[in-house]
Amino acid sequence: MKRRIKARRLKREREEAERIKDSDLFKTVEEVFDSFTIDNLYKLYRKGVIWELKGVISSGKEARVYWGKSRSGEDLAVKIYLSATAEFRKSIKKYIIGDPRFEEIPSGNFRKLIYEWARKEYRNLKRMWEAGVRVPRPIGYIANIIVMEFLGENGYRAPLLAEVGDELDEDFLKSIFHDVIAQIEKIVCEAGLVHADLSEYNIMIWREKPWIIDVSQAVTHSHPYALEFLQRDVENVYNYFSERISLDLEKEALLKKLISCMRV
Ligand SMILES: Nc1ncnc2c1ncn2[C@@H]1O[C@H](COP(=O)(O)OP(=O)(O)OP(=O)(O)O)[C@@H](O)[C@H]1O
Ligand SMILES: [Mg+2]
Repeated sequence: MKRRIKARRLKREREEAERIKDSDLFKTVEEVFDSFTIDNLYKLYRKGVIWELKGVISSGKEARVYWGKSRSGEDLAVKIYLSATAEFRKSIKKYIIGDPRFEEIPSGNFRKLIYEWARKEYRNLKRMWEAGVRVPRPIGYIANIIVMEFLGENGYRAPLLAEVGDELDEDFLKSIFHDVIAQIEKIVCEAGLVHADLSEYNIMIWREKPWIIDVSQAVTHSHPYALEFLQRDVENVYNYFSERISLDLEKEALLKKLISCMRV
């Protein structure tokens, strides 16, 4: 009896493995990723989170972003951290040290460091999403892979503000500016975070609204550089918009309001 159950289980596992091998996901994956990433993608596949990986949207130094599909056919953005250059290792420590959620820094273990960084990004994304910030909806996460809502259509990502800002008319740009400020207020006053890398390169324009992306380096208010990061975020946003439209909101007044949220 026991032997028959075991044989059945083995048959099921073999069929499952063959089905997975046949899938589109692994046509792309086998050639490109290391074995740990492949294992992690398998896990997300088995859970039905990722069904297909269709193409690269962006290939940065540390992370690649893919367009994918869920089992139910929903578009996904899949961000995969692949390597950690010495420069990256050094720069991310600044954002991890001092954040009470990440006291333990695994020194010398680059894989763990990347996992920690991806976990931080996913937690930040979730926290912002739950606070009502307009960020891609978090969908799933494992080790070095983050799955979120895809901003765009038919595999074409939405443009960054940096890419389209100059083509937008003044009234629309004004509404985008006010909306970005509203998102910063939510990040600081509702989510209790500071984005810490906000600029026209991490804002996407989709469905006529600004969307905040790339939240890996966001920190809590208790972080020793939180205020410095906030001032830089606000400075970046003001610099970008003030070159294109006249602004009717004082930077100092905004900062004062945001800082008062940080002191609560
Ligand atoms: N949810 C998403 N939907 C569609 N495209 C996305 C999404 N998230 C990121 N992208 C695209 O991938 C690019 C890189 O993403 P992100 O900024 O999060 O990563 P990064 O590691 O900072 O890369 P970079 O150094 O290029 O900014 C973005 O500029 C954007 O074009
Ligand atoms: Mg970015």
